Amino acid sequence: MHCSENDGSSVQVFSCFQRSSMSYKKNIHTKKGIVITAFGSSTEQGQKAFENIHARIEEKFPDIPIRWGYTSITIRRKYREKGKDSNSLSTAISKLLDEDVTHLAVQPLHIIPGYEFEDVQRTAAAFRHIPKGFTQIVLSTPLLYSQSSLHVLGNALLQIIPENRSNDEAVLFLGHGTNHPANSFYPALAYWLQQRDPLLFVGTVEHWPDQDTILSQLRKCGAKRVYLIPLLTVAGIHAHRDIAGEDPESWKSRLENEGFECVPLLKGLVEYDNFTDLWLDQLNSALQALQT
Ligand code: CO
Repeated sequence: MHCSENDGSSVQVFSCFQRSSMSYKKNIHTKKGIVITAFGSSTEQGQKAFENIHARIEEKFPDIPIRWGYTSITIRRKYREKGKDSNSLSTAISKLLDEDVTHLAVQPLHIIPGYEFEDVQRTAAAFRHIPKGFTQIVLSTPLLYSQSSLHVLGNALLQIIPENRSNDEAVLFLGHGTNHPANSFYPALAYWLQQRDPLLFVGTVEHWPDQDTILSQLRKCGAKRVYLIPLLTVAGIHAHRDIAGEDPESWKSRLENEGFECVPLLKGLVEYDNFTDLWLDQLNSALQALQT
């Protein structure tokens, strides 16, 4: 795979296969296109959040066509049943190819470079080999990707902590979690945050740090009140059920059971302006990297 990236870079550049001795007329036309890719969301709130970031992107790049590619098969099926746009990532990219796009920027809304992002990379890389395909494809990275990205994401998280939180109250950011090695970004982020404020914690709903791990830290920290903030792109089922649901196994129930007062803030990161700005900056860098 030919891709160039360094620690500070938020994009990966894929040069595409070009036949050098073309007998047909050389294509001198160039056109940029954008594909936004995300898992998808089955909740109203999640879809509304996607529509909002779409509007921001359209406003910033009014002349560039934008398509969405959803990676979850289940969510695409649900969208299809509702008659909504339900393109897979490869379909979204193909559609832009059919609209004569030559230079493609792919912007994922992922947080860590886990399995979902690897699939995005593989899909983008596969399009390098399509005959008469794109001239260039640039792929942005997830928010957490390099050492320096920890600072960027960490600072962005500090900004979304409610202003009325007093400094003896804990804040628990809850991400998805995975058995992919990239799960280690969560404890790395926790370490970064705790250097700034020892009452900031990071847990995951499906992997580690898990409830038992976080509960033992919370018991020691002396806080009575805990803000629960999803470290998730959208506040969907995981936020409403696993973080703040009434089920006895939810984070809120487990913490309340231990005597903590919980304040869940059920917004996805895409609903905060400063996170939307981060994604827009990444997309801007990806578009700048396109050599049109
Ligand atoms: Co999940």
